[in-house]
Amino acid sequence: EKGGYDHFMLKEINEQPETIFDCLRGRLIATTGQIIMSGIDNNIDILVNAQRIVIVACGTSWHAGLVAEYFFEELCRIPVEVEYASEFRYRNPIISKGDVIIAISQSGETADTLVALENAKEQGAFIFGVVNAVGSSIARLSHAGAYTHSGPEIGVASTKAFTGQLAVLMMMGLKIAYAKGTIDHNRYVELMKSLESVPEKVKEILANVDTIKAIAEKYKDAKDFLFLGRGYNFPVALEGALKLKEVSYIHAEGYPAAEMKHGPIALVDENLPVVFAATKDRYYEKIVSNVQEIKARKGKVIAVASMGDEVIPNMANDTMFVSDIDEVIAPILSVVPLQLLSYFIGIAKGFDVDKPRNLAKSVTVE
Ligand code: M6R
Repeated sequence: EKGGYDHFMLKEINEQPETIFDCLRGRLIATTGQIIMSGIDNNIDILVNAQRIVIVACGTSWHAGLVAEYFFEELCRIPVEVEYASEFRYRNPIISKGDVIIAISQSGETADTLVALENAKEQGAFIFGVVNAVGSSIARLSHAGAYTHSGPEIGVASTKAFTGQLAVLMMMGLKIAYAKGTIDHNRYVELMKSLESVPEKVKEILANVDTIKAIAEKYKDAKDFLFLGRGYNFPVALEGALKLKEVSYIHAEGYPAAEMKHGPIALVDENLPVVFAATKDRYYEKIVSNVQEIKARKGKVIAVASMGDEVIPNMANDTMFVSDIDEVIAPILSVVPLQLLSYFIGIAKGFDVDKPRNLAKSVTVE
């Protein structure tokens, strides 16, 4: 049942080229410039005219929502808020008729997300579900939706569901932006092609597993980790930290790299590994400076860098490479080495990565 792998987590990480492909298949057709998603096609007016998008989710799914905030705002020019379901449901939020709520959930059964949606639905919001589990409560409650088609995810730490969520949300953003006229045809096709190239590029990352395993061995005894990223890679830093906490029980924090100076930099010394999601994008020069700042304080830098980059790998103590890709699509690649890093650290410490202590696969109680 684990398909020859030692753990579901590793199996599910390795399945990503296929699960992302399955998610895109029959939907994204770059050659004809089409994205076919009935949940969106049937509700295109509501989505294009949305005054605001509120994304509601928990945990890893909330991180997928944060990535979506960046590209929905950039491509669709619709204001986006990303809410923890548990906070949203209890704080009497303002919901208006033109609001679109996007619920993101692997299981479709997370109690806080479900109740938050019920409340918003009663107040007249349009609910769009991005769900993995077919026929689940959140899928049934939504007015429309798009499944991630990632297949059953058994490992408690979410991996392939996250990249599936990103793929669906990216197609959604592209479709809405194109219908709205906020991106031109060339950019639309360019991003479609980038997205289409993801499964092959994930395979390349997975082929370098030995490098990542060696890095895991080297840092497995660290007491704390810091994960930093900017822009599209900021949510990736949060996700990297969450994965590490879940499966290795090492304390880890994710931060926007520039926030470092506002506090966390006080933690940096020769014992602190700092993981940078530092692929080539519009923030590249800034992130190079952030890496220098960590090095100057003797922190150990582990970088996720773009293939062909020489500057960051030269400064970093260790580097995990990913193929160069459009920055909008980058998170779906840069998260993969971080999933593997957590997996191998958890294993090296002898923990049951598929069933970490104190955690349940779906949190059906609040
Ligand atoms: O099933 P959901 O996507 O609604 O679950 C949300 C979180 O409970 C989930 O992502 C959790 O944070 C995972 N253990 C992360 O690996």
